[in-house]
Amino acid sequence: MQDIFSIFLILCLVTLRSSSGFDKISSNSFNVLDYGAVGNGQTDDSQAFLRAWTDMCKATTDIPTLIIPSRKTFLLHPLTFQGPCKATSVYVQVKGHIVAPRMAGWTGYDKYAWIYFSNVNGLIMGGSGKIDGQGSDWWRLSCKFDELDALYFSKCNGLRLFGLRHVNSQRNHISISNCNDVIFSHLNIMAPQDSPNTDGIDIASSSHILIKNSYIGTGDDCVAINSGSSYINITSVTCGPGHGISVGSLGGNGDHHTVEEVHVEKCSFTGTMNGVRIKTWQGGSGYAKKISFKQINFVAVNNPIIIDQFYCGGAHNCPNSVSDVTYSGLQGTSIKQQAINLSCSQSNGCTNIVMDQINITSSVSGKETYSYSFNAHGRSTAVTPPVNLQS
Ligand SMILES: *[C@@H]1O[C@H](CO)[C@@H](O)[C@H](O)[C@H]1NC(C)=O
Ligand SMILES: *[C@@H]1O[C@H](CO)[C@@H](O)[C@H](O)[C@H]1NC(C)=O
Ligand SMILES: *[C@@H]1O[C@H](CO)[C@@H](O)[C@H](O)[C@H]1NC(C)=O
Repeated sequence: MQDIFSIFLILCLVTLRSSSGFDKISSNSFNVLDYGAVGNGQTDDSQAFLRAWTDMCKATTDIPTLIIPSRKTFLLHPLTFQGPCKATSVYVQVKGHIVAPRMAGWTGYDKYAWIYFSNVNGLIMGGSGKIDGQGSDWWRLSCKFDELDALYFSKCNGLRLFGLRHVNSQRNHISISNCNDVIFSHLNIMAPQDSPNTDGIDIASSSHILIKNSYIGTGDDCVAINSGSSYINITSVTCGPGHGISVGSLGGNGDHHTVEEVHVEKCSFTGTMNGVRIKTWQGGSGYAKKISFKQINFVAVNNPIIIDQFYCGGAHNCPNSVSDVTYSGLQGTSIKQQAINLSCSQSNGCTNIVMDQINITSSVSGKETYSYSFNAHGRSTAVTPPVNLQS
C-alpha cells in the first residue's frame, strides 16, 4: 500500500511540474528531447538518452526524473544506463514508445541485453508507454544465442517498475539478477504464443520481489524463478498463453542451486502449457523449498500442476531436494487427463507436499482427470483428481 501511495505521489508531482511548465527551469527533470532525441522511430536516439541519463544521474535533487515524452517513438540501440546515481531515488518516466532496431541493426553490438540498468538503486520506472523489442527476426534463430534480455536490471535495490507495456522481446522481456526489494505492478507483457524463449519475467539471485496485478502472455514462462532467489511473491497475475509459472530449472550443469520462499496467490492460467511447475535437472544439487500456490484458477491448461525432478530426462538419481510445497484452493480445467504430475526423484523424493481443496476437471467433456505421483511425500485433503502421497 505504501508503495502504491509513494508512486502515486511521485506521479502527481511530476504531472504538476510538467503542466506548470516547470520542466525547463527545474533541474529535476531531464527530457530526452532537450538532449537531441528525435523520436521519429528511425533516428538512433541512444546517445541523447545516455546524455540525459548522465545528467539525471548526477543530480542531487529529490527524485530527478528522466522524461520520455508521449506521442513519440524512440529507437534505441543496445545501451547501458549505469549507476549508481547521486540521488537515493531516480524516476524514469516512460510515456512514449521505445523500439529496438530489427536484428540487422544489432551488427557490432553485444547480443546480451537491449536496455540494461546496471547498479542503479532506488530506480522507479513506469508510465503508460511501451517497450517493443521487435523480436520477430530473432525468433527464427532461437537456438543461436543464449541470453538476451529486452530489459535487464542487475545489482539493484528498491526497483519499482509499473504500468508499462512490454511487447515482442528478442528473448526474455524483463530480467533481474542480484536485486533486492523489487515491486513489479500493472505490467502488460505480450508476445505471440509461438515466439520461442520469450519469458515474461526472469528472476535470478534476487530476493524480496513482488509481482502483482499484471498480465503476461508470451511464448515461454510467464515468470521463471531461477537459482539464488528467495522471498518471491506473485499475486494477481493473469498468465496465458505461455508456459506458466516455473520454479527452476535448478541444478543445470551439475550446479548447486537453491530457491526458497516462493508464494504464488490469486493467479490465473489460460491456455498455458503448464500451470505451476517446479523443475530440477538431473545430477544437480541444491533445493527448492517453502513454496506455496494458493487460490489459482486454470482454464484449459495442459499440465496444471507439475513437479518434475527429471527435467530433460535421464534415469540417474538426482540429489536436488524439493520440500515444503503447499497447494491450496486450486481449481479449473486441464487439457491433458493427467492434471497433476508429481515426479520426484528416486533418491530424495519430495517431502512435506501439502495439497488441499483442489478440483481440476477435464476441459474435454466426458473425460476424467487423474493424478500421477512418484516418490512424493506429504498429505492431501479434498483433492480431485485424488493424489497418492506417501506419508
Ligand atoms: C509474501 O507471501 C507470504 C505468504 O503468503 C506473506 O506472508 C508475505 O507477507 C508476502 N510478502 C509480500 C511482500 O507481499
Ligand atoms: C509426468 O508423468 C509421467 C508418468 O505418467 C511421466 O512419464 C512424464 O514424463 C511426467 N512429466 C511431465 C513433465 O509430463
Ligand atoms: C469440481 O468442479 C466441477 C466443475 O466445476 C464440479 O461439477 C464438481 O462438483 C466439483 N467437485 C468437487 C468435489 O467440488
